Amino acid sequence: MAQGDAPMLVASVLPADFSELGHAVQEIEKAGVDRIQWDVMDGRFVPNLTFGADVIKACRPRVQMGFEAHLMVEDPDPLLDTWVDAGCELVIVHAETCKHLHRTLGRIHELGARAGVALNPATPLDAVTNVLDLTDLLLVMTVNPGFGGQAYIASMEPKIAAARAEIDSRGLDIELEVDGGIGPKTIGAAARAGARVFCAGSALFPKQGETMTDRAAALRAAATEAIA
Ligand code: DX5
Repeated sequence: MAQGDAPMLVASVLPADFSELGHAVQEIEKAGVDRIQWDVMDGRFVPNLTFGADVIKACRPRVQMGFEAHLMVEDPDPLLDTWVDAGCELVIVHAETCKHLHRTLGRIHELGARAGVALNPATPLDAVTNVLDLTDLLLVMTVNPGFGGQAYIASMEPKIAAARAEIDSRGLDIELEVDGGIGPKTIGAAARAGARVFCAGSALFPKQGETMTDRAAALRAAATEAIA
């Protein structure tokens, strides 16, 4: 497996006990997950409402691991600085919510963070090909955003493969992430399609008698096997 091919595991905090988020991020770090995704939802772009930057800021000192803010919000521009100030190294905006996506990505870089773009299932890759030079992470949604525990949309695999081909043919240094319904039964197909960063919520948070460490290891092993 080539150097850049090692799978990265990102934990969505959505399934966590929101009354214990500080403890949850420590559990995620101990489990060997690579980064935490904060699912920021405004109840308008997606039919759910989660948390603001202050919650992320409160959890920042509890762990060393990286934070990414996944902004599932109608208008991300006015608050871009708050996510960076809260300690997110990566700010991911949805292509569908940015009137001037090129400018928004540039602004995230000016704030000192890496810039990510997310694509909903219905949004074609073409929506971002003209801004990939400003993109550090491309997030292909494999569910319609808003809730955890949804079924993986396998018909996104051609889009993942097309994104992988575009990134590799242009020699771009872009993390290709998938998010939604990623678990032991689906991570292999997403990896074979070309994804290398895997965001999981439900599949990581353990049921009775299991540990997050075991679940994380199983997901990583399945992705590694598929990539090999
Ligand atoms: C969906 C969120 C995802 C979701 C992942 O709106 O953006 O990050 O929480 O959860 P699972 O892994 O349960 O689909």
